[in-house]
Amino acid sequence: MKQITDYLKNNKQRFIKELIEYLQYPSVSAQSKHKKDMQNCARWLANHGKSIGLKTKVHRTKGHPIVELSTKRLPKTNKPHFLVYGHYDVQPPEPLELWKTPPFKPVVRGRNLYARGASDNKGQHFAHLKAVEAYLKTNTELPCDLTFLIEGEEEVGGEALVNFLKQNRSNLKCKGVVVSDTGMPDLKHPALTYALRGVAALEVQLVGPDRDLHSGIYGGSIENPALALSKLLAQMIDNNGRIAIPGFYDDVIKLSSYERKQMARVPFSEAKYKKLLGVKTLFGEKGFTPNEHRAARPTFEVNGLTSGYQGEGSKTIVPSYASAKITMRLVPNQNASQILRLVARYFKKLCPKTMRIKVELGHIADPYIVSPKGPLAKAALKSLKTAFGHEPVLLREGGSIPIVENFARILKVDTYLLGLALPDDNLHSPNEKIDLEVFTRGIHMSAHLWKDFAEA
Ligand code: BES
Ligand code: MN
Repeated sequence: MKQITDYLKNNKQRFIKELIEYLQYPSVSAQSKHKKDMQNCARWLANHGKSIGLKTKVHRTKGHPIVELSTKRLPKTNKPHFLVYGHYDVQPPEPLELWKTPPFKPVVRGRNLYARGASDNKGQHFAHLKAVEAYLKTNTELPCDLTFLIEGEEEVGGEALVNFLKQNRSNLKCKGVVVSDTGMPDLKHPALTYALRGVAALEVQLVGPDRDLHSGIYGGSIENPALALSKLLAQMIDNNGRIAIPGFYDDVIKLSSYERKQMARVPFSEAKYKKLLGVKTLFGEKGFTPNEHRAARPTFEVNGLTSGYQGEGSKTIVPSYASAKITMRLVPNQNASQILRLVARYFKKLCPKTMRIKVELGHIADPYIVSPKGPLAKAALKSLKTAFGHEPVLLREGGSIPIVENFARILKVDTYLLGLALPDDNLHSPNEKIDLEVFTRGIHMSAHLWKDFAEA
């Protein structure tokens, strides 16, 4: 190990420079104007993998390319094979005026490197690449074979990688998947995440009159779609913060007391949390703690609400329609398509006679959970402890990584989530960043991981 850790220490600054290069690609999967940037970013990553000594392939898909990087697997050695997953696509950087420095001009300020994608997710999977580089460049035998799958559609719920898994089942056969695309509470609490929430998206529209109408001439004789939709949405959550859709909680697995104890170990200060988010006071389902609310309980959120006139000044109309973009976060064992059916049915049932209703179903991802007590989970905890020098915590996380459940269903393997994002890293927000100390320790963690995995 000494050779490896020396290599990592001696090349620490270069790794940061390379990450800066990677972060300059505006690989925004949601925006079609960035299609070429997506391809260029994928090619840069593949070339980088090649320069490290990995076998590389850029797979074309209907959407954005998938980058596959792998060790040269020799049939005779029979080493255990593991997958490492990440995504090179990033969220849209807007609103641009809130960034202190431009999102695709990475800069180091203090202990942080700022850029869109710094921690979600380029910096996190790049750490794993640098650990492999250390093995290959010091001619240290890797105790495992590795395949990196880095996709370009994670942030848009794309299908390309799902199809890729189905088509490459035998080649991707492995003992486990490692993903660094989640969080850790702070440097003293490295974390193994053993559950993720799923997500189900839909859009609902209520249509009243067939055009916007003069509110003086017609108002009072017809129902206002904006108000009708508000009433409908207000019925989705009761006064205890519980989702009122019939059947919504039927498949939710109860939190065990072991889990609640683990969750209580995660440091939490209500005052700091309120300040971090800029809210007056917290809100959440009765009977659960804030850490439980945001990680282990399902939610119903309105992401966007549209109706009527949005321009300057006032306009006296009854709008023709009102619509809402909605996502729900789901927990084990809820089934995302089943939940969409329940919600659509409930909306239709509550829709007043005055309105026509349109429900458009969107993307889905099922929730994920793995035992945190298996041998590979224990090995992962060990390498976290070695690299960060502190006892790791077990987490359930509220975000979703749609492909993870597919690894279980299609490849029949478990995923170990070793997140390197801090709570103030601003994922999906302006001024996203990665903490460079976490990045460096993350590389060390990955270097230890393959040894600990092989011994498990
Ligand atoms: N890395 C995040 C997910 C995440 C963040 C998990 C923090 C746990 C802690 C991922 O890139 C992400 O944002 N996923 C989307 C998926 C959605 C578009 C289907 C999400 O959770 O909103
Ligand atoms: Mn994300």
